[in-house]
Amino acid sequence: METHLIVSKQGRELIEYESAVPLDRVLKEATFHYADDDFMAPVASGSFRFDAMVIVPCTMKTLSAVANGYADTLISRAAEVTLKEGRKLILVPREMPLSLVDLNNMVRAKQAGAVIMPASPGFYNKPKTIDDLVNNVVSRILDQAGIDNELIQRWGEPAKKKSTLPSSGHKIVR
Ligand SMILES: Cc1cc2nc3c(=O)[nH]c(=O)nc-3n(C[C@H](O)[C@H](O)[C@H](O)COP(=O)(O)O)c2cc1C
Repeated sequence: METHLIVSKQGRELIEYESAVPLDRVLKEATFHYADDDFMAPVASGSFRFDAMVIVPCTMKTLSAVANGYADTLISRAAEVTLKEGRKLILVPREMPLSLVDLNNMVRAKQAGAVIMPASPGFYNKPKTIDDLVNNVVSRILDQAGIDNELIQRWGEPAKKKSTLPSSGHKIVR
């Protein structure tokens, strides 16, 4: 599978601040990556074919840009392209509480065809690590994008003998 990654200017700083994962390592995971002001990138054009776009996490600022067609970054331009070409756009907002402006922008984006799925993990799997919570959200996003994955124990499926989940070892204290 080919992936095209765009990390916003602020996102580049927050990856290192919040996750302690070096930005270079994140960028290397993608087949191609671009700066958020690189409007010459293939994904800026509807003639470049791709199946789906995920914005994760989607800040309230980027949500606003997407909902209102204000394509001043490569991320918001690629999202605009995804919508106009009738492809799947998945927005994963991460914010609380939500203002009426945010809620209205979510409605606008949904009406335009986007899928809105807040980063809100399930707890029925009894998560033990931060990775369990993250994998739960990531698995649901991949499902929406039509990408097969076995990141989580699905409700109603027999328990897997051995966990295939990656773990950083961070425990949740109960
Ligand atoms: C430590 C930190 C955490 C942030 N977390 C969020 C967040 O969870 N949700 C959000 O909408 N904005 C958050 N922001 C604010 C955004 O980073 C800011 O609105 C930025 O302009 C978004 O730009 P971008 O959408 O191009 O990445 C955070 C900022 C900082 C410094």
